[in-house]
Amino acid sequence: MDTTITLPEGYSFVDLDDGAKSDMVELLRWSFPTALSHEGMLAVPMAPEAERSVGVRTCEDGRLVAMHASHPWERFPLPGATGQAAGLTEVAVHPEHRRRGLLNAMMRLHLSRCVKRGEVLSILTATEPTIYGRYGYGHAADSLALKLSRGAGLRSIEGSEAVKVRVLQLDRARHTSVINAVHQAAGAQGLLARPGWAGRTTEVLQAAELYEHHPLRGGREELRLMLAERDGEAVGYALFQRNAVWENWGDGGPASTVTVKECVAIDGAAAHALWSRLLDLDLTSKIEAWPVPVDDPLIGMLLNVTAALALCEEFLWVRLVDVPAALAARQYSSDIDVILEIRDALLPANQGQWRVRARAFSAEVSVEAVKSVEVSSADAGTNDARSTSERPADLSLDIRELGAAYLGGTSLAALAKAGLVQARSDEALLRTAAAFLWPIAPGCTWLF
Ligand SMILES: CC(C)(COP(=O)(O)OP(=O)(O)OC[C@H]1O[C@@H](n2cnc3c(N)ncnc32)[C@H](O)[C@@H]1OP(=O)(O)O)[C@@H](O)C(=O)NCCC(=O)NCCS
Repeated sequence: MDTTITLPEGYSFVDLDDGAKSDMVELLRWSFPTALSHEGMLAVPMAPEAERSVGVRTCEDGRLVAMHASHPWERFPLPGATGQAAGLTEVAVHPEHRRRGLLNAMMRLHLSRCVKRGEVLSILTATEPTIYGRYGYGHAADSLALKLSRGAGLRSIEGSEAVKVRVLQLDRARHTSVINAVHQAAGAQGLLARPGWAGRTTEVLQAAELYEHHPLRGGREELRLMLAERDGEAVGYALFQRNAVWENWGDGGPASTVTVKECVAIDGAAAHALWSRLLDLDLTSKIEAWPVPVDDPLIGMLLNVTAALALCEEFLWVRLVDVPAALAARQYSSDIDVILEIRDALLPANQGQWRVRARAFSAEVSVEAVKSVEVSSADAGTNDARSTSERPADLSLDIRELGAAYLGGTSLAALAKAGLVQARSDEALLRTAAAFLWPIAPGCTWLF
């Protein structure tokens, strides 16, 4: 355990393993109120990220009062590339011990461990959007919550009729590999891959088990699977549940809702085949889907997108842990040669000026620390390893704004208009903003 990170008096950090599961379950039930019983939650298999769980116990009686965990993502999707990232999750502090600085200490520990593990980014989804900006996380991607009416019209997509759709009871043992294979194939599309769409191993099954537990289902049926196949090959899937039909009989007849947990397809024809079925299930009247990426194929297919009553919510938050490594790991949408001046109060190694040079849509990216002419004269005589730049920084910004722009979904020019980024010139701002934006919107189809 890193001894340089101090907790408020009376608490100590501890690494958590499977043996602490009962304590973790109890803490999570306190922090995220649920209808699940202790035993009900205990029966759900431990998620893989729990291998990297860290807890805070009281010194007085050893009670577990805070925790966090993180997914070890070796190949997290970035614009045009992949990089090593941590997916922060299960951040919880017991209500009795909140607002004493336990989260502050856990965040410092998490970021210092990311640095040691060589993770260039930390990514999270936030329960409350006001929490994580103070730790340098920027709001990097949104998601849509869609509400569609049964029979909502779709444009026709060539090849859709050749896709066979089967409707099945989700069976962990039988369907894990096919779901994961489609998820992987849809995610691994080279330059066309969606930044932020984290890969998944068994989490979907963890979630499935939870949803099958009655109190959490809120009156919905067990999780169902729709499988799309072309020539015997799986090309898409959807996980969905319908409300109990008799309890949801309206004045005008059946009024059940279809909740679409996830709809993933490797091409437009497969997506069309799945959504056509989801939008027309008997005895239902509404279809709800979340989290849907803002440029999901469904959006392009809908005849009346306004009627989908989309609610746009912040979704992915990104924190650059290692600025030069992270900037070098992604690709850019246009040629770029820019000097960024970064402020980072929490991780000072990121502070200073970084020159980023890259060719459009190319893995050839170089990032070096520079000192501007003014700085170099002040530093004369020191052993500063940075090269000297002939020009001042083009953009000056906090690490939080860099995180917001990093996955390519937030414009640095928009942040400058909000007064959050300072630019040497309008041209430098527009050139840099254009290079950082990415043609595929960042997003993720599942909550972690
Ligand atoms: C949110 C939570 C983790 C905060 O933990 P905590 O130990 O009370 O936080 P700290 O005392 O370390 O406070 C850290 C800072 O965050 C702020 N903060 C804490 N909770 C906040 C919230 N819900 N909204 C906005 N700010 C919050 C504090 O004011 C403090 O700010 P400061 O350092 O600028 O003064 C805790 O209340 C909790 O577990 N809540 C329920 C579960 C949850 O929402 N988890 C987050 C999952 S993403």
